[in-house]
Amino acid sequence: MGEIIICVGSSCHLKGSEKVIEIFKEEIKKHNLDQVEISGSFCQGNCTEGVNIEINGQKIEAVNEENAQEIFKKHLLSEKNE
Ligand code: FES
Repeated sequence: MGEIIICVGSSCHLKGSEKVIEIFKEEIKKHNLDQVEISGSFCQGNCTEGVNIEINGQKIEAVNEENAQEIFKKHLLSEKNE
């Protein structure tokens, strides 16, 4: 199970939230995690630290192209193996 909410407000959008969504979608496909849902949110009120996301209710800030894969692994793959 899993839920990823990615801020697609204007500031996070400018910081690359679309790219982050793409990376997460690729990871979900790669690992056959069909049960993980991705959705977008409006501004989460933390623009200066964007891109802001939430994974299973946990807020994570400063997500970008470089660290998205690692964040995905840490929060969604480790859980799967437990
Ligand atoms: S636009 Fe993402 S927190 Fe404001």
